[in-house]
Amino acid sequence: MNTHAPVFESVAKEDVAWLGTDPIPATAYYDPAYFELEREAVFRRGWIQMGHVCELPEPGSFIRRELEVLKASILILRSQDEEIRAFHNVCTHRGTQLVEEAAGKQSRFTCPYHSWTFGDDGSLLSAPDFEQFNVAKEDCGLSKVHVEVVAGLIFVHLGTPESGMRESMGPLADRMDELPIARATTISEYVYEIDANWKLTYDNFQENYHLRFIHPSTAGQGCGGDNPFGYPEEYGFQGPHRTQTIWTNPETGIPSAVQGVSYMKIGEALAKRDLMIPGAEKNYFALFPSFFLFGNPGTHFSHVVYPISANKSRGVIRLYWVGDDENASERYAREYGMAMTRDIHVEDRSVIERGQRGLESGALKHIHLQTNEALLRHFFNEVDGRVQAYKAELEAQGAL
Ligand code: FES
Ligand SMILES: [Fe+2]
Repeated sequence: MNTHAPVFESVAKEDVAWLGTDPIPATAYYDPAYFELEREAVFRRGWIQMGHVCELPEPGSFIRRELEVLKASILILRSQDEEIRAFHNVCTHRGTQLVEEAAGKQSRFTCPYHSWTFGDDGSLLSAPDFEQFNVAKEDCGLSKVHVEVVAGLIFVHLGTPESGMRESMGPLADRMDELPIARATTISEYVYEIDANWKLTYDNFQENYHLRFIHPSTAGQGCGGDNPFGYPEEYGFQGPHRTQTIWTNPETGIPSAVQGVSYMKIGEALAKRDLMIPGAEKNYFALFPSFFLFGNPGTHFSHVVYPISANKSRGVIRLYWVGDDENASERYAREYGMAMTRDIHVEDRSVIERGQRGLESGALKHIHLQTNEALLRHFFNEVDGRVQAYKAELEAQGAL
C-alpha cells in the first residue's frame, strides 16, 4: 500500500509566462508622481471594499468610512426601505462633512453648520430660511456613490463604473457567496498603519516565497516535504482579480495545545451552524485593487490595503463570524484566531518597511519576480496598464 502523500507539483514557469518575464520598474513603488496617477486611474475607476452588511444590521444603521487616496469621506447606510446606499459625507450647502461618528443609527442627518437636514435617500428634507436661496431643494441632495454588495461585502465606486463588481468577478462571486463571510453577523478587526507603498504592502500577502524565512514559527510551519516554500497548488486569473489554491502540508506537525483547542472549538461552532465548507481553507481571492480574502482553518479573513500616500498605507484585517460567541470556549477560539492573525502580520510589517526604505534610496531601477510571484506580476500589470492608459488620456488632452 502506498502511504505517501501525492507529490506536490509546483506551477511551471511556462504556465505564467504570458504575464511577461521582464523586471518591474522600481519607481512605481515610491514615486509620488506615479501615485498621483494611481489615485484616478486605479481608485477613482475601481470598486473599493469598505465594509460588510453586518455593520448595517437594521434600517437606520450607518457607517462613515475615510478613503484618503481619493480624499473622500463616505457615508454608507441601510435605509428604512432596507436599501444599502452610499453618499459623499459632504453637506451640499457649503461642503461641511455631515457625519462625524464612525457608526450609528439614525435616518436623518443634520449638518452642524446651518442645520440642513438630509434623509436616508440623500434628499434635502429641510433647510432653515431656504427661501433666501436660489436653488430648488430637489437639486440639493447628497452626492451619491455607487455601491454594490457581493458575499456580504460592501464595495463602493466613486467614479462611473464600466462594469459592476459582481460582473467583474465572474465565477469568483458565486464561490464567495458560498462562504460563511456572506452570512457573517459580527467581525473582529485589526487596523495598522505602515510606512510603505500600498502595492509593496499588498504584494507581501500575494506570495509564499517569504514564509519560511519571515514566519519560521507561525505561517512558515506549513512549508515542508516536497514543497519547502509552501507554494500554492495553482494560480487563477479572472479579469483584474486573482486566486490561489493554497497547499496544505500533509506532514504538518500536531498543533500546539492552544492552537488545537482553538481550531477544535471553531470547527465545532462552524459545524453547529452548518457552515463547514470542505476545502475552504484552500481559498485565496485577491480582488482588484487591494482586497484579499484568505481561508484559514478557523475562518476567513479579509485584508485591505488603503493607500494614504506614495509611502504610507493603512491595512484593515477582519475576521468574520456567524452568530455571537455562545460560550467562553468559542470566545477564546475567536480571540485566539485574531491573535494568531495579528502575530503573523507583525512579522511581515518590519520587512515591508525595510523594502520601502531600500526602494526609496533609488538604488534599484528594477525589481525581479519569480514564477511563484506571478500574482504580484499580474497585479502590477493591471495597475500599470491603467496608469499608462490614464497618462495617455491626460497627454491627449494636453493636461500633462
Ligand atoms: S454647510 Fe451644511 S448647512 Fe451649511
Ligand atoms: Fe508574511
